[in-house]
Amino acid sequence: MSSEKNVSCLSGKGLTKIFGNSRTRTVAVDHVDFDFSKGEVISIVGESGSGKTTFSKMILGLTSISEGEIYFDGKIRDISSRKKRENYWKEIQAVFQDPFASFNMFYKIDSVLLDCINMRGGKHLPKEKKRELMTEACSFVNLKFDELTNKYPFELSGGQMQRLMIARIFLLKPKILIADEPTSMVDACSRATILDMLLKLRSENNMTIVFITHDIGLAYYVSDTVYIMEHGKFVEHGNADDVILKPKEKYTKRLISDVPKIYEKWDLSTVG
Ligand SMILES: Nc1ncnc2c1ncn2[C@@H]1O[C@H](COP(=O)(O)OP(=O)(O)OP(=O)(O)O)[C@@H](O)[C@H]1O
Ligand SMILES: [Mg+2]
Repeated sequence: MSSEKNVSCLSGKGLTKIFGNSRTRTVAVDHVDFDFSKGEVISIVGESGSGKTTFSKMILGLTSISEGEIYFDGKIRDISSRKKRENYWKEIQAVFQDPFASFNMFYKIDSVLLDCINMRGGKHLPKEKKRELMTEACSFVNLKFDELTNKYPFELSGGQMQRLMIARIFLLKPKILIADEPTSMVDACSRATILDMLLKLRSENNMTIVFITHDIGLAYYVSDTVYIMEHGKFVEHGNADDVILKPKEKYTKRLISDVPKIYEKWDLSTVG
């Protein structure tokens, strides 16, 4: 898979998240180091509760960091003011596990998409141009804008909502996309389509994609690099072929042995 090798886009040192007080203390993410390159697809793989979502929320600036630093485009990330946070969020966006939690349910779909155009500096574009962009974004994810224009997000199916989230990303064109279990709500066929759309975003815009999953089989098919997460720590990482075909850690071997045999037959070459 193509990527601008070694051009660091996002990295971290000793990143840690501790929840609770001295009695209820949970170390959700425990001193992790990472380095993600431009245009790379990275999978973070681990069992439920291993700290994947907490890690992604720290990267996104949605939860505070207990210890450690994040570097974005080679500099220490600074989101100390509202303006700085807004600028950061232009460059880093997310597609979440639960699409129902991702939209303001009182906003019609056109407003959701218009917001993205405005965020990207398109506020003063003529109405027809905005409509053209929204139509293009919807067709990128196999949705028909004309059929959605007066609807609210809750009037869509889970799979349609997930595709609408990707249409937003198409308009926002961030440098980094965090996709936290983005295919959890859909069947196997739509899953391949969604992965295909994410990879298309990468190849067209050189986006860095951080794909978060408990499914090491999916991770193998989509990623250049894999980080294995166990109890808040990255226990193994590297090139996807090396980590998955020649795992060193017992935990990685166990995740691999849990992969349903169906993957052996499932030809996902269409998404690679
Ligand atoms: N807001 C919170 N307050 C306290 N503990 C939390 C909070 N959020 C997460 N945790 C704890 O941190 C640990 C990691 O949770 P996290 O949601 O990051 O796991 P995950 O790998 O994303 O799991 P899943 O695959 O089920 O989504 C868990 O033990 C969880 O209970
Ligand atoms: Mg999670």
